[in-house]
Amino acid sequence: MGVDFGTSSVRVVELARRGQSVHLQNYGEVAASDIQKSPPGTITSDSLLFSSREMAGAAEAIIREAGIATREVNFPIPDFSSFFTSFELPSMSPKELEQAIFYEARSYIPLPLSEVTLDWQVEGGVVGKRSPLIKVLVAAVPNDVIEQYQQIAALSGLQMKSLEVEVFALQRALARGESGTIAILDIGARSTTCNIFENGELKTSHSFNVSGNDLTEILSRALKIGYQDAENIKKEQGITGFQGAEKEAREILLPVVDSILEETKKIFRTFNNNQKKGVEKVILAGATAVMPGLKEYFLEELNPQKIEVQIADPFKKVSCPQILEDMLKEMGPVYAVAVGSALKGLE
Ligand SMILES: Nc1ncnc2c1ncn2[C@@H]1O[C@H](COP(=O)(O)OP(=O)(O)OP(=O)(O)O)[C@@H](O)[C@H]1O
Ligand SMILES: [Mg+2]
Repeated sequence: MGVDFGTSSVRVVELARRGQSVHLQNYGEVAASDIQKSPPGTITSDSLLFSSREMAGAAEAIIREAGIATREVNFPIPDFSSFFTSFELPSMSPKELEQAIFYEARSYIPLPLSEVTLDWQVEGGVVGKRSPLIKVLVAAVPNDVIEQYQQIAALSGLQMKSLEVEVFALQRALARGESGTIAILDIGARSTTCNIFENGELKTSHSFNVSGNDLTEILSRALKIGYQDAENIKKEQGITGFQGAEKEAREILLPVVDSILEETKKIFRTFNNNQKKGVEKVILAGATAVMPGLKEYFLEELNPQKIEVQIADPFKKVSCPQILEDMLKEMGPVYAVAVGSALKGLE
């Protein structure tokens, strides 16, 4: 089971291996607004929005209602709770590499190493072979964040099998087996993360703070309407309108969409300059990916650079009852992280 605690909701996916194929056993979601808030005065960690008790309660509710049988869980850690850095090291053996990463990471990570846990991937060069340089991508997760996930597992009677930064879950669900240079753009509620992969290997990961909730806020402010009404307009019309009120919504939303696009292009340009390679395809993930008109707009803007645009379909390689297929396609972008996390348990 993979459990993704996002800013806007908690999603659970249960997968099982059946012969050669991976089968969807169960899935479920609870909106953050339905999670019981702690009484005033409850202390919650800065980097997580809810207390362990609330998060455990939400996970338990989904597990109960969806009838999930397993107790084994993998948790993805949100990008805003982790730090990413990459650096190069001279060629060395795997054992030496671990020590060297710890040594080198000290100068890149804004917290004492005693307060973080490191997770890394080699993304260039071959460890233990005669390649001149090894490039490593390192994620650091504060230990108190890890402790909170341990607490959640304990409170909900789950057995935590693993924790990993969420980009590795996205990689497993969407980038594995993809040849060429692809970007996964996860447009969530409070942040957007742009990850670039080459032949399935993670090359770079950047987050920025323009995201889905900014779209709702700007609509709500500009039209002087409540947040929920703005949310509904965003989800129903998005940026498809060319007349009347729909056109107005489009014009209000476009500057925010453009700034997501501009940030993304900037990351692409940096990647291009450093690696001398261009992104060939963008996979849109996160619930904002399905905003009406978004994919078409990205396509229009990125097509001149010969970049393809797709909406994430993490259930593509998962077998499920046929009756669910269309719905799962629509929900794919929201469940990508949870699917990737659950897949880890089947490796
Ligand atoms: N159909 C839709 N059209 C447009 N936006 C949508 C749609 N459904 C959800 N959203 C928006 O997507 C955002 C939530 O995305 P998602 O569920 O991927 O985020 P999250 O994982 O909870 O948050 P984060 O990754 O930032 O922690 C919200 O801003 C929500 O309004
Ligand atoms: Mg998310």
